Amino acid sequence: MTSVSYALLPLLSLVASVLANPLFVPPALHVPLSRRSGNHDASVERFAFHADHLRAKYGWASNATLARRAGQVVGVGIIDQASDSSYIGTVQIGTPPQTFKVVLDTGSSDLWVPATNCLSCGQTPPFDTSQSSTIQQVTSASGNSQSVRIRYGSGQVQGILVSDTVSMAGFNVNPQNFLLVESMTTGLLDGDVSGIMGLAFEGLASTNAVPVWQALINDGQFSSPEFSFWLDRHLDDTNPPDEQSGGVLTLGGTNSTLFTGDIEFLPLTNAAAPTFWMLTMTGATVQGKSVTIPSGDAALSAIDTGTTLVGGPTDAVNAIYAAIPGATPVPSMAGFWQFPCSTEVQVSFAFGGKSWPISSADMNLGRISASQCVGGIFDLTQGSDVTGGNGNPTWVVGDTFLKNVYSVFRANPAAVGFAELSNAAGGSSGTPTSIPGSATITEGIDPLPSGSSSTSSTGTSSSGTNNGALSLSANPGVLFTAASLFIGVLSGCALLA
Ligand SMILES: *[C@@H]1O[C@H](CO)[C@@H](O)[C@H](O)[C@H]1NC(C)=O
Ligand SMILES: *[C@@H]1O[C@H](CO)[C@@H](O)[C@H](O)[C@H]1NC(C)=O
Repeated sequence: MTSVSYALLPLLSLVASVLANPLFVPPALHVPLSRRSGNHDASVERFAFHADHLRAKYGWASNATLARRAGQVVGVGIIDQASDSSYIGTVQIGTPPQTFKVVLDTGSSDLWVPATNCLSCGQTPPFDTSQSSTIQQVTSASGNSQSVRIRYGSGQVQGILVSDTVSMAGFNVNPQNFLLVESMTTGLLDGDVSGIMGLAFEGLASTNAVPVWQALINDGQFSSPEFSFWLDRHLDDTNPPDEQSGGVLTLGGTNSTLFTGDIEFLPLTNAAAPTFWMLTMTGATVQGKSVTIPSGDAALSAIDTGTTLVGGPTDAVNAIYAAIPGATPVPSMAGFWQFPCSTEVQVSFAFGGKSWPISSADMNLGRISASQCVGGIFDLTQGSDVTGGNGNPTWVVGDTFLKNVYSVFRANPAAVGFAELSNAAGGSSGTPTSIPGSATITEGIDPLPSGSSSTSSTGTSSSGTNNGALSLSANPGVLFTAASLFIGVLSGCALLA
């Protein structure tokens, strides 16, 4: 177990400020140095994709092409940064392609990378637009460039809307609208991570661009309209490196070697107009006993790979820690709780018909004092007036939970599925228990979604084009990366200690 120790203390006021005010923009988001490992994104299959697009464009659609148009399933390695703080993937942008590391974030919907002239971007590797023959500025109807600002809980970025070829794991979107960042909060990203790839729905995109994953589905490139995560755990490693391989992202389907049993698919609560990947939390157990959590709008949960921990509403978080012997609020960390380090904390969350256990390793973030350890569930709504309703989630279910399941994000019908991890994926922390009387929906084959495609080899721009300058205000997502900031601080100090 890593030790948080006293080096953490000078930084706590920052965390507290973030949590006390969801709109506060702190000066730093910890994203540590990283190094590529175990990814397969330079698949030669991308050449076949390009060739097929060319054939289709010029009317040479063949049987082979038609077969390929049924789509593909491709698995890519994920990079785990700083003991599960962030999960990173790689994308290629431009012609010839430049490669970038990006945070894989199902809690937001924009793609961005910095420009070479970015202010306060430090060592963040930029996109050199002068080296891409396919870069285009996305202008308004009146011909002006479009400025967009995206606010996260941990900082903000501002830039201009551009389009270029974007590829991931051999899948290709051309053109894809995204943000070329010209200024960012100092220290928002460190090391060689360049940006964020949003994996939530277009409805949440500050750029109004169709997100890459949705563009790929609209274009029929995925075998199934879904992508799936296995997030590996390194939180409890002794002396973890800043960066190591951390699971698999499967685009266009699932990988049956990574899970066992059925996938329980749960329809999104906001399926009619999706933004976040939103489910209703139907129950929680602590140390084997059920605890009371709010229902209805106060149970809305964003399933968010881009958040390190789990944040929840005050009443529920209090009830969870009340069921852990010796748990007390951390005096110096608003919204966080501590418990005796010797306690094995067993928490399960239910969505739909099954209750999924969280490993005690994920519930224990490390020591804050000689005997006390900090818990992985924090009070998200403390000190703010944010309530449920209006589509705002009151729970943000991040990696603390998601490391314990195989998770499937399906566009149509819009749903999130959970399954037990196979031994090949490290195994789940016990078998999920059924909730009596609840329906279980298992995996089926679903048709590709209809709707207009934003990807076209003939060069039509995506539907994200806006008139005039945009100044995007905060969406509920601003709250969420506060957690990433927090765990980053913890991990960084653990390395110093
Ligand atoms: C595709 O293949 C089938 C048999 O494999 C054949 O009957 C059909 O004519 C072919 N279609 C085209 C467009 O080549
Ligand atoms: C499924 O996962 C296994 C284990 O990581 C891997 O060896 C295999 O290539 C994956 N399959 C696909 C289609 O991605």
